Amino acid sequence: MARSSYALAAAAVLFVLPFCHGRGTNDQVNNPNIPYGSFNNPSTYVRPKWRYWIPDASVDPAGVANDVAEAAAQGAGGMELFGYYLYGGTNPAYPAYVPTDWAVYGWGTDVWKTNIQDTAVQAVNANNMIIDFALGVGFGGAGVPSQYDDVNLERDIQPFYVNVPVGGSFNGTLPGWGTGPLISASTGLVISGGVGNAASVLSTSSLTEVTHQVNAQGQISLSFPNATGTHYILAAFYLIFTHQREQVGPLDINSNTFPAKAGVPQSQPASFRNNGSNVWDHFTVGGAQVAINYWNKYLFTGTTGKLLKKVGNYVWEDSIEFFPRYAWWTTELPKVFQQEHGYSINKYLPIIVRGRVGFVNSVTVPLYSTDQADAGLSHLEDYRQTVLHIVQYPIQCGY
Ligand SMILES: *[C@@H]1O[C@H](CO)[C@@H](O)[C@H](O)[C@H]1NC(C)=O
Ligand SMILES: *[C@@H]1O[C@H](CO)[C@@H](O)[C@H](O)[C@H]1NC(C)=O
Ligand SMILES: *[C@@H]1O[C@H](CO)[C@@H](O)[C@H](O)[C@H]1NC(C)=O
Repeated sequence: MARSSYALAAAAVLFVLPFCHGRGTNDQVNNPNIPYGSFNNPSTYVRPKWRYWIPDASVDPAGVANDVAEAAAQGAGGMELFGYYLYGGTNPAYPAYVPTDWAVYGWGTDVWKTNIQDTAVQAVNANNMIIDFALGVGFGGAGVPSQYDDVNLERDIQPFYVNVPVGGSFNGTLPGWGTGPLISASTGLVISGGVGNAASVLSTSSLTEVTHQVNAQGQISLSFPNATGTHYILAAFYLIFTHQREQVGPLDINSNTFPAKAGVPQSQPASFRNNGSNVWDHFTVGGAQVAINYWNKYLFTGTTGKLLKKVGNYVWEDSIEFFPRYAWWTTELPKVFQQEHGYSINKYLPIIVRGRVGFVNSVTVPLYSTDQADAGLSHLEDYRQTVLHIVQYPIQCGY
């Protein structure tokens, strides 16, 4: 899935600016709106900046101010403020003890905003520097606090399969029925079985979408012709949420679901703002809006709000690390795929939904290819292109 990761990185970069101010701040290209200074005395905008990781919001604000002043004294032009939070506490590679009450000191809480973010912004201003913000918490910044069941959180597509003998029939409940909204159901003839990790090969001409034959109770009745092959598959795909946490909530700590253990007691979250951070759907405007709304309502306010035009530079997603279990997916994907490529993705889903998307939460699902000359890779590539194109960032920046 290396190609998909690459496509995803490009897609996410498109929405790194949730606010747009008049001043051009892109220091990566020749930009007439920012001063560059000289080689001997470069301007703030082109001096090195520090990636400044705060363990959590309990750190001493005076220490934050001192760090910023020290960076300025060393010639730095600015800081990127980032909440570390034990990599969100979600990564099995980094089991750890949570040293503070994350209901109080979580990312994006009032304490984070007042003690850390406002302090850093003020210190940056006092030292004539500029500030970048990581868009969210943890190892990537792909999540902010939200209601746990916000409909704009990260989605996934869960597959189910049943095998039916050639010449046989299926009359019963579609596999996986009830998992979530049905995306599609399809059938196909397997003409050679996968050996080891190899994919089973599907006859392309046999691929058939049968979604419209599933009734409201999830019942479907199909009979399969005799044919040269090993068996048929009936595949069903459902829309689900990943519920991936970018920072686990205080209630998740010690829950056995996550490796992080509480080093100190954790409080009940007073609201969703004290309950960790969730990865939003990176392929919809609604998903981007989860992050934008949080920043506008809770973070670009007060001291930060007042100084933002003066010292605010970038807000960006630091690292593209969010992993569905089965495939990158979003509600509108079939529609956009149809528009872009002129055919329906639905009957090809058995070759597209392959699991093992990232290095966390990977799952193994049956692998299929087709008997086309390219084994069906053109369809996989079409899907990846749609994943790449589907992000349409809603705000145009008038630099
Ligand atoms: C498949 O072939 C078998 C054996 O010839 C026959 O009994 C059966 O009716 C056929 N099934 C279908 C669906 O054509
Ligand atoms: C499928 O099963 C249902 C419920 O058992 C039955 O009413 C229906 O006749 C069956 N359809 C076929 C084609 O066998
Ligand atoms: C906090 O998150 C948990 C899931 O970890 C959820 O069950 C609970 O409803 C959330 N509570 C609040 C107040 O958001």
